[in-house]
Amino acid sequence: MPAGQSQLGSAPDPATAIRGRFDAVVEINRPICREHYLLRFRLAGVLPPTRPGQFIQVLCRPPMAGGGAPGDILGAVCEWELGQAPHLTQREVLRPLALLRRPFSLAGRGDGPDQGTWIEIVHRVVGTGTAWLAELKPGDRVDLLGPLGNAFHLPPGKSLALLVGGGVGLPPMFYLAQALHPAGWDAVAFVGAMTADLLAVDWSSNAAVDPHGQPTLCIAQFAPLNIPAVVTTNDGSRGLRALITTGLEHHLKALSPGDAARAVIFTCGPEKMMHAVAQLAQTHGVDCQVCLEQAMACGMGTCQSCIVKIDPRKDERFRHEDPQGTTRDGRPWRYKLACSDGPVFDAQAVVW
Ligand SMILES: Cc1cc2nc3c(=O)[nH]c(=O)nc-3n(C[C@H](O)[C@H](O)[C@H](O)COP(=O)(O)OP(=O)(O)OC[C@H]3O[C@@H](n4cnc5c(N)ncnc54)[C@H](O)[C@@H]3O)c2cc1C
Ligand code: FES
Repeated sequence: MPAGQSQLGSAPDPATAIRGRFDAVVEINRPICREHYLLRFRLAGVLPPTRPGQFIQVLCRPPMAGGGAPGDILGAVCEWELGQAPHLTQREVLRPLALLRRPFSLAGRGDGPDQGTWIEIVHRVVGTGTAWLAELKPGDRVDLLGPLGNAFHLPPGKSLALLVGGGVGLPPMFYLAQALHPAGWDAVAFVGAMTADLLAVDWSSNAAVDPHGQPTLCIAQFAPLNIPAVVTTNDGSRGLRALITTGLEHHLKALSPGDAARAVIFTCGPEKMMHAVAQLAQTHGVDCQVCLEQAMACGMGTCQSCIVKIDPRKDERFRHEDPQGTTRDGRPWRYKLACSDGPVFDAQAVVW
């Protein structure tokens, strides 16, 4: 985070924050729409401070008994004669299981004096790991690693957040909304999906969705924080029939010069959508931070699998690396790691 910029909450800079492995117990696992589940974990132990934009790595298979003792295969102890192939009969090894942890943005957090910390994620079932998560029941144990990555930041002089969450990019917006309210920021949310049954939100009883794309207090995750939302679907089955970027563009065009000057766009979602949001932000002269959900393996800067191209001249965190304005091989970009340099980057620094 550049010097002088305000932090979200009282958490320390994620670059220096402690992270760890945590045993968690499933408290809630409920479908929030077709294909998406809201999962709440209760943690044993104290989770270090977290900030919106950060993520956790979830072990999407039964946790190792005793933290992974010798002979402990995928959550169950197996008798293994030296020189012989193991006889594996456990349910866990007879079906596909995710070997690597899977990354999920934090969608919310609460700390209580009695029952400790809970954290939430919202996940879409797309493959082996998320299908396993969808089957979890209250009381099941899960192994988590985190908090990981950097976070959104609130630039000084700004005070209006435009939260743009497309599809599975919504969860970090829920957590960011929680942090904006105490920081005294105003906000408007933009929520979009292909169809109404893929909108991963709870509907509020406060107000109806506006079919013409006007912001209303229609979403339960935002309404108590006084954050109105513009809802768009590609097929018009709920809200404005349009892409999420159309809803955003209408709003940007209608902003007063004063509001435009204090606005920042925060976005997460499919890459094409974030690119379009970044272009709109540039056209309208509004700052924009993107949360890149690049496919990841280790999630902590070791495997180099999550590279993104960043123009160091446009991100003040990296400007000192290239005082001449180009990299050694003459290219105006460098590879950065979405997991440890990101996932949040200045939208104008991303080479799309
Ligand atoms: C920092 C970060 C935060 C994330 N936050 C969330 C979240 O809040 N909610 C959520 O539902 N998902 C989130 N994701 C994506 C999530 O990690 C993947 O959907 C998950 O790993 C898929 O695991 P799986 O075993 O179910 O699917 P797999 O069996 O591994 O893959 C199924 C299909 O999904 C594709 N896929 C896997 N990961 C990604 C990815 N990152 N981007 C695009 N396609 C992918 C694969 O190529 C494959 O086609 C996040 C990813 C990152 C990097
Ligand atoms: S996921 Fe391994 S380096 Fe980023």
